[in-house]
This record gives sequence, structure tokens and C-alpha cells, in this order.
Amino acid sequence: VSIRIEKSVLALETERFTYGTMDPAVERYIAPLEEKCVHLKKSISLEDYAEKVVEDKFSGFFMYVSPIISKNRILGTLLMGGEKSQPGMANEEDAAYLIDTIARYLSTGLETTLLNIRLRDVLRELGDAQKRLVEQEKFRSLGEMTASIAHEIKNPLAIIGGFTKRLANKANKDGVEWRYIDIIVKEVSRLETILNELLNYVKDVPIANDMCMINECIDEVIYLFAPDAAWENIHFVREYDTTLPPTRCDVQQIKQVFINILMNSFEAMAGKGTITIKTGQTYYREKPYVTISITDTGGGIEPAIIDNIFNPFFTTKERGTGLGLAISNKIVMNHGGHIEVNNNVGKGVTFVVYLPIKNNIM
Ligand SMILES: Nc1ncnc2c1ncn2[C@@H]1O[C@H](COP(=O)(O)OP(=O)(O)OP(=O)(O)O)[C@@H](O)[C@H]1O
Ligand SMILES: [Mg+2]
Repeated sequence: VSIRIEKSVLALETERFTYGTMDPAVERYIAPLEEKCVHLKKSISLEDYAEKVVEDKFSGFFMYVSPIISKNRILGTLLMGGEKSQPGMANEEDAAYLIDTIARYLSTGLETTLLNIRLRDVLRELGDAQKRLVEQEKFRSLGEMTASIAHEIKNPLAIIGGFTKRLANKANKDGVEWRYIDIIVKEVSRLETILNELLNYVKDVPIANDMCMINECIDEVIYLFAPDAAWENIHFVREYDTTLPPTRCDVQQIKQVFINILMNSFEAMAGKGTITIKTGQTYYREKPYVTISITDTGGGIEPAIIDNIFNPFFTTKERGTGLGLAISNKIVMNHGGHIEVNNNVGKGVTFVVYLPIKNNIM
């Protein structure tokens, strides 16, 4: 018995499955017989195919092939063959009837499988769309809330800042008051920074359509940190794919993503350790992506909190705002990509940024 499934139907690697063995002399008739069956869209036997040959040489053989048809489309063929005199072999007519029947069942089964595959893809897309929708809704309600809170806070904060600066001018620079005032000035300015970051996060910033060489982009980010003495004990290992195609993205925003991830690594390693940056190309759900993976030696993330790290305002740091990863995630998603986290507890984390290679930006 041999089942041949059309390659286009299931995107299968193997297209013919054969059970049992056949005389090699007749075996070579399998493929032409299947082809003729597909062409005619009906069942045929070896005799139909080549009367003369069969009469002369293979009159003792039986071969029958039936198309697996669904909705007027050939999904594959089912073939049965053997010696006519074989013990236990049904008469030709019965065998033909049996194969036609099985072929019909197979067509229903294959059609169901095809529908299931399509359903699975649609469900997956639906899930992705829903996730995006939830994220957007989160951004939207957060945006409205933030805008009103920021509005309420900004003015009093500016007043506090202004009057404190006036006080600073009056205070004796050596006195204890000046130190207190200085702390207030600094904290006010920190609050102002947080408010601005927050507004940046909720604002819908348009995406510039730059042609970007990712490797160079990462180098530029690393050069930003290099002159800083605090970074002198951070060892960078670069493993770049030199064949990366140019990627369409907003360079400034994508740089911000790398900066946020690198800052987190720096903080997790307390300023000392190794950051390995790898670039590459891969397929994710059949679509091409550029990948940038950033691995640190900062001990990793506690499994209990890992689901929260992309949530806005989630932080484990005393002076963190918890917006770094939320902003990064939003930027990458707006580019049609995603961020993957591979956590190695006790060792470090790898953040992998996926950016689509195709030029369309969502
Ligand atoms: N490389 C890392 N190693 C260990 N923990 C990490 C790493 N990156 C992120 N985290 C965890 O995820 C949390 C959220 O990170 P995120 O960058 O969003 O905020 P943050 O760094 O705390 O504050 P911000 O970036 O706004 O200054 C961090 O507080 C930290 O607990
Ligand atoms: Mg951060």
C-alpha cells in the first residue's frame, strides 16, 4: 500500500508513504500511475495505464490507485498493489472498492487536518491581536490617568522647585540648611524627570522609518557608555553576524531599547561583569527577523517576579521607575517585533530583541 500526499497540501517533507515491498520491476509503475490518477482525477489500474506491458510481463500483478479528493481538489493518492495469486488477496473488484472507500475516508481526515491547521493559525493570530489590544488598552487608560495626574502635579512641583531655589540663594552655603535645600532641589528635579519619562511612555510617538545597520547601532550605544568610569569593569563581548541586512526601524527608539536593557544589566551586575551581545537572523512563525541578544552575568531574575518585569512601574530597585522594560517592549512591539527573556537563575539573563526584516512597520 502506498499513500502519496500532495506536497502543497500539508507542506510535508515526505510525500509518499509505502507499506510493504513490491517487485522492483512493477514498483517503477507506482509514480506514473499516481500521476495519471491525479491527472484524470479518477481511479485507475495498472491495466488501464499500460495494457501491453501488463499483458506481456506483469499479468500476475495487481495495482490500483485511487485519488484522495476533497472539494474537487486532489489531496493525494492511495495505491495498492501485489501479486494476484497472493494468498489472502481479495479479488480485484473488492480491493478496488476497498481502496476507493478508504480514499474517501482519508479525504475527510485530511480535510479536517487542514481545517485544524488553519484554525490553529487563526487562533494564534487572534491571541496575538488580543494581547496587543490588552496592551493598547493598558496604555490608553494609563495614558489618560497619567496625563491628568501629571497635570495636577507639575504646577505645584514647579512652584516648590522655584521657591526652593530662591531659598538656596539665601541660605548659607556652609550651613546645614543649604544641604537640606540641596536635597529638596535634587529630589524635585528627579520627580520632574520621572513625570517626563511617564509622559513619553504614554504619548504615542510616531516611528521614524530609518534604514539601520543594527551592528553599527549597537556599537554607537556601547560608545555612549565607554567613557563613563562606572562602566570600566564591564567587559563587552561582541559576536556580530556580519551578513545582517539593513533593518527598517526608528534608530533613536531602538537605541533607547538597547540602552534600557544594557542599563538593567549594568545595575544587575553592580557595575562589574560581562555583557555578551550577539546579532543574527532567524525565522519566527515563518517570518524573517533580525535578532539582538544581550546576555549579562548579573545573577538572573527571581522566577517569582519574571512575569512582571514588562509591567509599567514594576521595579525592584530603590530608585527605579520600572518603566525601562515597559517602554522597550512598547517600542519593539510598535516595530512589529517582540522581546524574549531567557532567564538563567544564579547566572544571568539574556534579552533577545526580534525585529522584522520585512520593510513594513506597523
Ligand atoms: N538584566 C537583568 N537582571 C536582573 N534583573 C533584571 C534585569 N533586567 C530587568 N530586571 C528586573 O526587572 C525589573 C524591571 O526593569 P525595568 O528596566 O523595567 O525597570 P527598572 O530598571 O527597575 O527601572 P528603570 O529602568 O525605569 O530605571 C527590574 O527592577 C529588575 O528587577
Ligand atoms: Mg531599567
